[in-house]
Amino acid sequence: MQITDILARKRDGHPLSDGEISHFVQAYARGELPDYQAAAFLMAVFLRGMSSAETTALTLAMAASGAQLDWSDLLPYAVDKHSSGGLGDTTTLVVLPLVAACGVPVVKMSGRGLGHSGGTLDKIEAISGFRHQLSEAEMRAQVEDIGLALAGQSAALAPADGKFYALRDVTATVNSIPLIAASIMSKKLAGGAQGIVLDVKVGSGAFTAELPEARQLAREMVAVGRAAGRDMVALIADMNQPLGRAVGNALEVAEACRTLCHNPPTRLREHCLIVASAMLQLARAADPQIGTSWPQEARRELEARLADGSAFAKFQQLVAAQGGDPRQLEDMHRLPQPRLQEVIPAHRSGYLNAIDATALGRACTALGAGRLRKEDDIDPAVGLVMRAELGDALERGAPLLTIYANDEGRLAAARHLLAGGEGSVSRQGDARRLSPFRIDEDRCEPPPLIHETIAGVAGNSATGNATQ
Ligand code: URA
Ligand code: CA
Repeated sequence: MQITDILARKRDGHPLSDGEISHFVQAYARGELPDYQAAAFLMAVFLRGMSSAETTALTLAMAASGAQLDWSDLLPYAVDKHSSGGLGDTTTLVVLPLVAACGVPVVKMSGRGLGHSGGTLDKIEAISGFRHQLSEAEMRAQVEDIGLALAGQSAALAPADGKFYALRDVTATVNSIPLIAASIMSKKLAGGAQGIVLDVKVGSGAFTAELPEARQLAREMVAVGRAAGRDMVALIADMNQPLGRAVGNALEVAEACRTLCHNPPTRLREHCLIVASAMLQLARAADPQIGTSWPQEARRELEARLADGSAFAKFQQLVAAQGGDPRQLEDMHRLPQPRLQEVIPAHRSGYLNAIDATALGRACTALGAGRLRKEDDIDPAVGLVMRAELGDALERGAPLLTIYANDEGRLAAARHLLAGGEGSVSRQGDARRLSPFRIDEDRCEPPPLIHETIAGVAGNSATGNATQ
């Protein structure tokens, strides 16, 4: 099989066979192909797209390029979750202990944030001493012991994705649905989960801004997972504003603790209950002793584990097991603290109708909460806390958010990005300094937390599509 023939076929818009795709991926993963041929392949896929069958073949070949974990000797059912990335998305830190407190063991591998979007590893590192570089043996021992482990994404899983991703980054081929779907799903499949809940974000703070695009990404990933025999649920979740009130690593750990301890009906709490419920229902449906668990039952059980403190206790147990200081979860003043704070006020009276959430993420990166480049250091203490949500009525001068900083220059840079004047939601490249907050006289109905749910589970192979 000639590599140039494969490239020419994709270039000319012909579908590739499973054999051609796996030949190409294997050769590249083994170091037998130069980067320029892989770059040509990525650009041809970017421009021509891939059918579901091709995306599945690409994902399976990437998943097979390294170690593939199998938990079946240890766990009755391995359930996993993945978020496509956004702001103030502390879901993993809440959902993992919550689901584990219901008796469903969870082993999760997470990544770092890049650009405006946060990553669970950066958040959990705000806790002193927390160790996430776990070997497979350590993960196994810990999940047997306490039913929960949270590790960094292992480079041994889907190494082809690591190589492709580095090339995509420098060849303008990141934003392609088949390439994103194969990248995410190859790591999930290699991680050995039988049931996978995908939290696909849509909106101004997501990588997919529009619903049709997010829906297509969700459908592709569900189809790939089903083809690999996994149970899949994809939630298309709103990211037109930060999910929680806090954006920034220690601030988000504190918010995760509050969500696990108290019961205020916040958007974050509701979102975590929806994700946890999907995970619990997958695990219960696969349990022959139980067979099925209805949404109402799952919800009741999860709310009980929040109310009786067992979900929070499980989080403390996880932190202690991995070398972190659990006292920081009880007394949040022990978490890294910022030196400076400043309130950004509303520039006019009216209803908060739109937020450029990516601009908020850029302001957090300017503060040092996130990275522009992989090698950048981050400051766990800094970030922002929202004081208003979409749909809120505001008086001119009322607080929109509080900035938390450790450096005057960085605070000024964040203020510049957040405190624009009148105008529409700011756009990159717009010379005028516009506020990332659109405040109008008339109120727009805020978007729903979940736009759609797409499920594909065993015994229900027709992929359903329900609006929640
Ligand atoms: N997350 C990934 O892991 N890969 C992508 O391509 C995009 C988001
Ligand atoms: Ca990701």
